[in-house]
Amino acid sequence: FDEVITIPVVVHVVNYKPDPFTISDEKIKSQIYVLNQDFRKKNPDHLKTPDEFSHLVADVGIEFYLATKDPNGNATTGIVRTETDRKLEEDDVFFTEKGGQDAWPSDKYLNIWIRDVKDRNGNLAFLGSAQFPGGDPRTDGIIVEVSVFGTLPPLAPRYNLGRTATHEIGHWLNLFHIYGEHGSCEKGDLVDDTPNQKSDYVGNPTHPQKSCNSNDMFMNFMDKVDDQSMYMFTIGQKRRIRDLFNPDGLRRKL
Ligand code: ARG
Ligand code: ZN
Ligand code: CA
Repeated sequence: FDEVITIPVVVHVVNYKPDPFTISDEKIKSQIYVLNQDFRKKNPDHLKTPDEFSHLVADVGIEFYLATKDPNGNATTGIVRTETDRKLEEDDVFFTEKGGQDAWPSDKYLNIWIRDVKDRNGNLAFLGSAQFPGGDPRTDGIIVEVSVFGTLPPLAPRYNLGRTATHEIGHWLNLFHIYGEHGSCEKGDLVDDTPNQKSDYVGNPTHPQKSCNSNDMFMNFMDKVDDQSMYMFTIGQKRRIRDLFNPDGLRRKL
């Protein structure tokens, strides 16, 4: 039995005033709920895992909650909203002085930045991104597009179950895509119990799909399928994540 690790979260809602979006506190909370299902093996859909992989499905043992204290020790909802007139480019979202919002200390909080990154036709150009452990604390956390965050509207089709944040937090917790490098059976994800896989899957594949001489675990949160088709982390991924919290791990202070 592993101790449950709890991580305070701050959500930075960075809104572009000329073309504002709305995201309710409830929509943000619906995402926290999904994370606490997916990282605790409480998501009912993990039962869809094919028999050959079901013994590998892990309760990662990590829980998330909206921060109740800000870095100065004052009460907070864990949600900070700003509006900007500036068109954000590159890393601007991470910096208050550039129209974004400064990170809270990344050794104490998971920083999540929410923004609208749709193109001018309203198409999704970006779902999310993440920084791996050990990087610049000022940009440490994840970014998620508003229409794939949580399970309440407005939501984009295919990415409506909050799994983009689950996937990005997987990266933030040191997980690579399960296929490792595109087009390679050799360059894997440094996790033993995820089968070698040649490249990513998208959409909603049906099991079995085969590459690199074995059936692929495309239903893993670290593949690229639609939200409804990803529903498990493995025990090996859990070990890799939890190593970060050992006395010499990169996220030990959280
Ligand atoms: N493309 C992004 C990444 O690799 C996110 C993929 C999320 N997939 C999903 N079904 N929500 O980090
Ligand atoms: Zn990814
Ligand atoms: Ca592997």
